[in-house]
Amino acid sequence: MIQENISLKPFNTFGLDVQAKRFAQVSSLSALQHLIQSFPNEPYFVLSGGSNMLLTHDIEQLVIKLNIKGIRIVEENEDFVWVESQASEIWHDFVLWTLERDYGGLENLSLIPGHVGTTPVQNIGAYGVEIKDTMVSCKALNIKTLEVEEFANVDCQFDYRESIFKKTAKDQYIIISVIYRLTKRNHVLHTNYGIIHSELEKMGITTPTIQDISRAVIAIRSSKLPNPAEIGNSGSFFKNPIVSKSLFDNLQKKYATMPFYLVDEEQVKIPAGWLIETSGYKGYRIGDAGVHSKQALVLVNYGNAQGIELKKLAETIQQEVFAIFSIHLEAEVNIF
Ligand code: EPU
Repeated sequence: MIQENISLKPFNTFGLDVQAKRFAQVSSLSALQHLIQSFPNEPYFVLSGGSNMLLTHDIEQLVIKLNIKGIRIVEENEDFVWVESQASEIWHDFVLWTLERDYGGLENLSLIPGHVGTTPVQNIGAYGVEIKDTMVSCKALNIKTLEVEEFANVDCQFDYRESIFKKTAKDQYIIISVIYRLTKRNHVLHTNYGIIHSELEKMGITTPTIQDISRAVIAIRSSKLPNPAEIGNSGSFFKNPIVSKSLFDNLQKKYATMPFYLVDEEQVKIPAGWLIETSGYKGYRIGDAGVHSKQALVLVNYGNAQGIELKKLAETIQQEVFAIFSIHLEAEVNIF
């Protein structure tokens, strides 16, 4: 059923009040295929968890809100289980589902907002783990042919916050489900990330389980990142920029405490949060648009900010960071 003039405020985690001229929810693959067939040659706007988008205007295209749910075990042996989740399961609920069954691999990715179907698009990552480490394949509907195609991990061209679905396959597919291979025993723990180590120590845990790691990640994220249910946001607004070693060497002479991660011999990744904080923008607020006070990488909507105001703030930050460091910050969030 097509609804008209629907506010998308409840459907995007920035809580931006833009209108969809026409809006339809689909709760199965066949309903999705049927809807697209009924509106051939139309551009669509597909909405999943709405956790990685900044909406700056009303949406003219037909908005398709995905609501395809279900989790099932596809295969298992003594060591591994292959679990398929449909696209519209809430990511963190899915992670908790795996942890309740003691399936390992997703614990470091606890509490990331959004739905399962968008995890391969972004190659979501946190605390030393990315989705590419456990994702086996995903099924995606080809919007033109209406056939379901399978993308194996290698087909997805994963990179830092990148995949084929943001590049050559952009706007051509709708991801329907994702299969992850998780461990049933001999879990591989990723606790090297300094802050996880210290959080576990604080919790008095020396031999952590995957559930302990999840609890540590939840504690860290809750202390630094705003809860979208309370303050509108889209997580990290910018990617951490990767710069040349020579620019990094020059900057380090001036900013000896600048944190960094070596990518390879020629490239260095610098935390955008540090660049923004050092530019003086941490906690900055103009009207209801702001920069989070505990993590400068996150832009926030204190209530009634317009998407356009947040976009303007993002551009101001990009200009300031470029003026000071000669580094261009690229938005991680999709801006419409
Ligand atoms: N930092 C600052 N000021 C800030 C924020 C960070 O100086 O306001 C410094 C920190 O002190 C630290 C460094 O920057 O030395 C890195 O900070 P943090 O560990 O918080 O991680 P990040 O690089 O800012 C990335 C991801 C996060 C993910 C964390 C943990 C990106 C764009 N973001 O942030 O992902 O949770 O690492 O792995 O890669 C998300 O994508 O929405 C997200 C939250």
